[in-house]
Amino acid sequence: MKKWICWMMTMVLCAMALTACGNSSRQQSNANSGEQVEASAGTEDQTGKVLVVYYSASGNTKAVGDVIAQYTGGDTFEIIPVNAYTTEDLDWTAPGSRVDQEHEDESLQDIELVSTTVDDFDSYDTVFIGYPIWWQEAAWVVNNFVKGNDFTGKTVIPFCTSSSSGLGESGTHLAAMAGTGNWQEGMRFRGSASADEVTEWLDSLDL
Ligand SMILES: Cc1cc2nc3c(=O)[nH]c(=O)nc-3n(C[C@H](O)[C@H](O)[C@H](O)COP(=O)(O)O)c2cc1C
Repeated sequence: MKKWICWMMTMVLCAMALTACGNSSRQQSNANSGEQVEASAGTEDQTGKVLVVYYSASGNTKAVGDVIAQYTGGDTFEIIPVNAYTTEDLDWTAPGSRVDQEHEDESLQDIELVSTTVDDFDSYDTVFIGYPIWWQEAAWVVNNFVKGNDFTGKTVIPFCTSSSSGLGESGTHLAAMAGTGNWQEGMRFRGSASADEVTEWLDSLDL
């Protein structure tokens, strides 16, 4: 009888220990309060549904956007101006070229887009937004997309490509233009950035 009671107690203690282990792996300590809080449910839940939006005049930013979309499994949305920029239009060294005129006269930077409407935009939790750097700023082609959408509740991550300039204040300026969204610092890539460089950055984000 004594042996049987001992055996039963051992089993009960084992069961209690296993339950405690199970709980501790699902909980983490709140460093400030010491209280136990539920651990987040995993990477996918933190990042949620991803959208990669970009404007690319000559393909460099698109290439980076494609790597981001592949890595995150996100959808893509290309910002397309109604009047596409020709090679001559993009020649910033030529006085009087389209970009030169638009740069000189801000009223010409109100670029009509084929669409600013993303299907089911509300469903996205994280939005990457990509653009080339033009005169140390985000190419103004993206402005009407940024102004035309509500980023409330979304994490917004800018990325850009350029010859040599950094991201600078381009992301901050877009955030102010949008007025909504939780905008992150973002990243600049050189025009010929490799997929590995982009992946390395994505690895470093807490996605
Ligand atoms: C109008 C214009 C202005 C540019 N201004 C800059 C600049 O200020 N700094 C820089 O490093 N690169 C500048 N560039 C180079 C582009 O940022 C770079 O080639 C970029 O990768 C192009 O991206 P895309 O192929 O996606 O259009 C400029 C290019 C153009 C067409």
